[in-house]
Amino acid sequence: MTLKKLFKHLPTYPHYKMNVFSGTNSIEEVKSVLSTLGSPSMLEGEDVENYHTLLKKSLESKKIYTFASGRMGFYSILKSINIQDEDEIIIPSYTCIVVPNAILYSGAKPIYCDICKDDFNIDITKIESLITEKTKVIYAQHTFGQMCNINAIMDIAHKYNLVVIEDAALALGAKCDERFAGTIGDFGYYSTDRSKVINTGLGGIVSVNNSKYTDHFENFYQRIPYLDTTLTKKIALTFIINIFTLNPYVYWLGKFINAILSKFSIMTYFLDEPYTSIKQIKNYPYPARLSNIFAKIGISQIKNLKNNILYRKNTAMYYNNIVKIYSDDYIQNEKNIFLRYSFLVTNREYWENKFSSKIDLSIWFKTIASGRNNKFEEIFYIKGSNQISEYVCDHIFNLPTHNQIKPEKLKKLLLELKNSGDIITKERVL
Ligand SMILES: Cc1ncc(COP(=O)(O)O)c(C=O)c1O
Repeated sequence: MTLKKLFKHLPTYPHYKMNVFSGTNSIEEVKSVLSTLGSPSMLEGEDVENYHTLLKKSLESKKIYTFASGRMGFYSILKSINIQDEDEIIIPSYTCIVVPNAILYSGAKPIYCDICKDDFNIDITKIESLITEKTKVIYAQHTFGQMCNINAIMDIAHKYNLVVIEDAALALGAKCDERFAGTIGDFGYYSTDRSKVINTGLGGIVSVNNSKYTDHFENFYQRIPYLDTTLTKKIALTFIINIFTLNPYVYWLGKFINAILSKFSIMTYFLDEPYTSIKQIKNYPYPARLSNIFAKIGISQIKNLKNNILYRKNTAMYYNNIVKIYSDDYIQNEKNIFLRYSFLVTNREYWENKFSSKIDLSIWFKTIASGRNNKFEEIFYIKGSNQISEYVCDHIFNLPTHNQIKPEKLKKLLLELKNSGDIITKERVL
């Protein structure tokens, strides 16, 4: 980061400003991290096992494994099913860059399917035309915490004998027909970094749901290392610092402090790797397991999951009462946990600027394979091929819902947005 960039974060005046990251963590969690920081049980210890047991029970999963990030879990799933070079994996083009990258690391090729404009999930009517002899997996991503049509995807997969991997990175706790997102496909995985439903600093969870694959996955997992002590310490420290610097009352100053601490490598995050080859990842093992210190936070976070989701739903309901995008039934449906409350607008830049006085929105998924801004051919995406995804990228507006969000502070702005006519209702899309 150059000095010029650093000074961009300089606070202008003290004001209440909300952040995009998970506000679900407690002081008790900070204390537990502090007590383990630097101790012999920081990397390996019994909390990982306890976390696995709790997750298995809470999600009603057959088998649980944890990782340093969701993408590493996804990559491990691909390796465990023996993905070969040139195998094809059908994914929605409206996703995060780490998804196609993990596919490329495994040697396979991402094949992009367009999405639906209403819920931002894969368009199930377009999947079958993409299936070839090389197709091995259909990737069922539950975008922004709204579940995709997983039952229809399972039917297609059965018909063509394909593996279903659910991406529940953004949908921990969502449920369809009494089963949790991530436990319905052959495999499912979750992300638990600071922007997700629960925050363990960093983290990923894999649920192996089809017993046909348990032995292979177990064998692969046994060979996976932990992150090293220095990196684990740094990430744990980042978790602690963030609890204070991301607080809305000091966020105007916190952002600047974060920028300085990151510049001097006192704090660190897993950024979305821009790479297309696993060999380019130099700073940490890929894949790596979740360190014990973070499992401890996970246990506390999972115990609070119901309240966490309830808060998110209430926040979504508040937004919805003003902007009226979805029906009340849709908001209340247990399929949708609303990690982000998302809709389409014209004139997005204008509204982003307006909202930025009250909240750091950092709107998600503004490009195909979010995080990549050019050279789409490197990830095998052909510009113009999935028009609805591209349209949604240009118009998406999404608001966080976590515990630190006080939606009433956005009331005036939301009313202004609603009255402006800039919200693209379903009738006006495309
Ligand atoms: C849709 C989606 N899937 C997977 C991931 C990967 O999660 P992680 O960052 O823990 O690797 C992300 C990350 O934000 C994501 O947005």
